[in-house]
Amino acid sequence: MCGIVGINGTTEVCFDILGALKRLEYRGYDSAGMATLSKGAFFRKRVPGKLIQLEEKIRACPLPGTVGIGHTRWATHGAPTEKNAHPLEGKHVVLAHNGIIENHEALRAQFSMDPFDSETDSEGIVHLLDAYRERGMPLSEAMSQLFQVLQGSYALAILFRDEPDTLIGARSGSPLVVGYGREGRLFLASDVVAFSDFCDEVTYLEEGDWVELKGAQATIHPDGGSGVVVRPRVPIGETMKVLTKEPYRHFMRKEIQEQPAVLRHLLTTLSDPLKKNTVAWASLSNLCIVACGTSFYAGCVAKYWFEKVARLSVRVEIASEFRYNHPALPLGTGALFVSQSGETADTLAALRFAKQQGIFCIGIVNVPESSLAREADVLWQTHSGVEVGVASTKAFTAQLAVLWHLVEEAAEQRKALSSEEKKTLDRAFQTLPEQVEEALLLDASLQKLAARFGHTTSALYLGRGALHPIAMEGALKLKEISYIHAEGYAAGELKHGPIALVEDALPIVVLSPYDALFPKTLSNIQEVLARRGQVILFTDPEGAEAVHSLSHRLHLYTLPQVSPIFAPIVYTIPMQLFAYHVAASRGTDVDQPRNLAKSVTVE
Ligand code: F6R
Repeated sequence: MCGIVGINGTTEVCFDILGALKRLEYRGYDSAGMATLSKGAFFRKRVPGKLIQLEEKIRACPLPGTVGIGHTRWATHGAPTEKNAHPLEGKHVVLAHNGIIENHEALRAQFSMDPFDSETDSEGIVHLLDAYRERGMPLSEAMSQLFQVLQGSYALAILFRDEPDTLIGARSGSPLVVGYGREGRLFLASDVVAFSDFCDEVTYLEEGDWVELKGAQATIHPDGGSGVVVRPRVPIGETMKVLTKEPYRHFMRKEIQEQPAVLRHLLTTLSDPLKKNTVAWASLSNLCIVACGTSFYAGCVAKYWFEKVARLSVRVEIASEFRYNHPALPLGTGALFVSQSGETADTLAALRFAKQQGIFCIGIVNVPESSLAREADVLWQTHSGVEVGVASTKAFTAQLAVLWHLVEEAAEQRKALSSEEKKTLDRAFQTLPEQVEEALLLDASLQKLAARFGHTTSALYLGRGALHPIAMEGALKLKEISYIHAEGYAAGELKHGPIALVEDALPIVVLSPYDALFPKTLSNIQEVLARRGQVILFTDPEGAEAVHSLSHRLHLYTLPQVSPIFAPIVYTIPMQLFAYHVAASRGTDVDQPRNLAKSVTVE
């Protein structure tokens, strides 16, 4: 979603701001801009569309100044046009904003005599700060006032015309980080990735902090006030620095390929939660898993595991619905929040809601510095490294691995698993990286399959039990990067409606290892073939044997024999590869699909 960058140094900043913005591209955006301050004047350039257009403008006429800010905007209030792009400029300030100002209409009414240049919710901030400065308010008082008036969420990077060599940041509800660069340069960004090439150490600002970056000094003021607080400087993790897609064409492809390595590393870290609290699984009567999108599907697989293996009753809730649905959370309810970014606004709001109800909150995140990581009572990290492709891949399989670890922990504490069963499952769990490696060998044949079905306008995905969420995940992957309509269904639901869609042109992807339910899925396959549909079946060697003579309309892909419990992880791989190759063959923007953002920080 929107990205903020600011740099204060002793040399010209405009090209480094551009470089930092490029590193935030993966978050998703639809317009961009930059502003600098030099000799008491603002210089600004903004474009609708991609950074390449901003770069052309900047190269034609670089912005002067040793202090500046940049922004990539993902439109919420107002279309992605030049006039709505940030930074927004007033008489005294120029600023970039991430988040949503909820009282923006009240601010427009308050300044109804002043012309507004944009349709954004952010412009009210410019008018407020201009008004404070007109009244002669010093910087610190103006910032304190701002915190009192603004409602909603914001991370801000601000330049004041009459505060030379000063860069101001502020955060409430949206992340903001200070980076300490070489030669005394100071950085501000919504994501460490923006400046990880320039800095070795950072400070994560807390809620209500605002910061003055002046000279080589970062002064942090807590609680939107004028006091001063010292926050820790922490080294940037190595994983934040590796941001190249080589040797692949897309980050998504690279991230799919990284999964065996991610799982191998994860298996060595799983017994070591990031926050040392433990979960008293035996004291829970039920668990509520809350997440969005792909992370929600990870939760759906975990529901199946928790109920089958740990005999713990689980419900899975879509985070954007959870707190508005008046959920009954009886005594003994625990809540588990799953998020790659740890900044998804809906998931964070759901966590805060659950905490208010006194619920014990477990977090699973990939970004250890995220808000969700800080606010959960106990935390596991998925250790996948930075995931750049907007479509989640390696973070999803890592979430599943962490969730499985929790299921086993719960099963042990609840005495739902014999030591023999545990040993067998542990052995199977340890072989996952090799099985994922084997699944990746389908790459070339799936590329061919993608060439064949790349022109379809619609697809169905079917699976049963824990493979039903993987069918939905497969459909989501195809939708989001190739823009082909796709739906995932429980295989048994086919005859209750979707079968009406079956025709020659419709590919139906079926996920079905040779387990107890295979014969039932086979009946569904027969129902499709009888209606001249095209079936793309992913199964194991025994399943392949059972169907090998069925029909030329059945496209068969054989995955390794896998313990039924871990099939969701292994069967995810061909879903990712197929979606990737379809999208790549259609020439879409695979890593930054239209309208999508990597981290959805607005409701
Ligand atoms: C799909 C995808 C999204 C995210 C969702 C939640 O590929 O990436 O559906 O899963 O926006 O994001 P996180 O996990 O960061 O909370």
